[in-house]
Amino acid sequence: MCGIIGYIGSRKASEVLTEGLKRLEYRGYDSVGIAVLNDKKLEIRKDVGMIEDVSTTLQFTNIEGNIGIGHSRWATHGVVCKENAHPHFNTRKTIVAVHNGVIENFTKLKNDLIEKGHEFTTDTDSELIPHLVEENAKSQSLLKAFMKSVRQLEGSYAIVALSTEDKEERIFLARKNSPLVIGVGKGEMFCASDIPAMLKYTKTFVPLQEGDLAVLTKHGYKVYSVDGSETTRKQITVDWNIEMAQKCGYPHFMLKEIFDQKHFINESLAADVDSAKSIIDEYEKIDIIACGTSYHAGLLLSYLLSEKGKISQAFIASDYPFIAKPNEKTLIIAISQSGETADVLQALRYAEKSRKIAITNTVGSTITRISDSIIYLNTGPEVGVAATKTFTAQLAVIYKLIYGKKKLAELPKLIELMLKLENQIKKIAVKLAGKEHAFFIARGKNVPIAYEGSLKFKEITYIHSEAYPGGELKHGTLSLITDGVPLIALAPKDDTIPKLFGNIKEAKARGAMIVGLTNDEDVKKESNFVIELPEIDPILYPFALIIPLQLLAYHVSVLKGINPDRPRNLAKSVTVE
Ligand code: F6R
Repeated sequence: MCGIIGYIGSRKASEVLTEGLKRLEYRGYDSVGIAVLNDKKLEIRKDVGMIEDVSTTLQFTNIEGNIGIGHSRWATHGVVCKENAHPHFNTRKTIVAVHNGVIENFTKLKNDLIEKGHEFTTDTDSELIPHLVEENAKSQSLLKAFMKSVRQLEGSYAIVALSTEDKEERIFLARKNSPLVIGVGKGEMFCASDIPAMLKYTKTFVPLQEGDLAVLTKHGYKVYSVDGSETTRKQITVDWNIEMAQKCGYPHFMLKEIFDQKHFINESLAADVDSAKSIIDEYEKIDIIACGTSYHAGLLLSYLLSEKGKISQAFIASDYPFIAKPNEKTLIIAISQSGETADVLQALRYAEKSRKIAITNTVGSTITRISDSIIYLNTGPEVGVAATKTFTAQLAVIYKLIYGKKKLAELPKLIELMLKLENQIKKIAVKLAGKEHAFFIARGKNVPIAYEGSLKFKEITYIHSEAYPGGELKHGTLSLITDGVPLIALAPKDDTIPKLFGNIKEAKARGAMIVGLTNDEDVKKESNFVIELPEIDPILYPFALIIPLQLLAYHVSVLKGINPDRPRNLAKSVTVE
């Protein structure tokens, strides 16, 4: 989490950093800061708040200079306050650094530095980095001191640092278990946690690998392995454009990304699944690992694989090492839109003996390097914290994998049709905005969509919400269903309807306010509000269901005055375990 950016070149660094931080804010938005080197002096400005406000109040772009670094924070060590915001610096303000990750041995390193006379002013683990580099630079060159410091760190990090005492003008980089990408320009170089922050300036990137160190100058870059030897890393070119990372007239990224689905679905359906398909054919036992929204897509995949006769189970990635014993006979399918989720990566490393397929949206991400076969979602960058288009894209590639593309010919039209329901959904959102609880029910293959609808709803509306297979209500939760409690029933006319209808009636009898996503006449009669589903091939119902649920969560969030793009306490890319 946390967004990092660095620039060296001839542009006004403060402008590049401010612009980049706006694109990175989805990674963390507790506090924000930049440091720019000008005339051998550092100008550091930082504070608590969003980039838009802090950069205006502190007049970030007034700072002159062509080299700088910036950071948007998601707190791990230390409360959210101005001092704990990055960049951090040594007492003499000669070395400045930004850090994403967690330094596990920071107490020992900090105590050693205090004994040597270093004074600390923050509660963060990150502050020790500039002090450590300063200490090590007493006996060796700055580059060697930086390398030694990085080798002393345990834990996860993406670090970007620079010094006023550097004879050359350079930016130093290091990464381990936190993403960091170099952006290659002409006479200028960039680095950032994620590609969208640099898209305005370049389309050529070098994703750093685990343990890599790098040095940027105006004219180029050098990458070093952990042991300090120079190495080469592959350059990639992306065909994303800057519009993909902008709101383009929509009030929020989330709404834009929901509507993006009608354009990108064709790209996702064009994804190359052939190699993954033939690998799947070789295995009988398939474990799926993922988190959050991606886990819901994984759950559906496990149902579809089981239907094909495979022994398949979806696991929450963070728990996988506690409950599974994968071996050479187990195939792992890891799903992660970012490709950088720490819980997923550690589960993949745990499954060291198994062959691995990754489903991701992010070219060059860590997951792509530790997997044997990759399916890309091809859905452009997703900026809103709540995953929307990437979930639909995950479903699309999963369906292509299982059913083949022919079965999905009607999908683009279906998505357009469901998006047209927005005005009707807005009216239902008004009825839900004042509620304290909501329950989502479904059965069979629609259950993962109920889980996903409920997650989307709670994370951006702050309304408590839970989802169940309909049959589970009577085993406990029904005691919470009283007058006016919303029950959102995913009730398409498929094999699940007879049983689900019974569950809806049970809830209705206890006063529930039923929102029926349905095309069944009986369910419509029981529903207080109906979101009409079209008559389609039943295998496509998950797609028809998820789009209204995304729109519903979005509109309730907006009605409650919440920014759906930046829900509290969350960040887009979860790079800590
Ligand atoms: C919820 C959401 C998260 C992510 C989860 C995994 O809207 O976006 O639950 O799905 O953090 O992220 P990835 O897919 O990047 O591994």
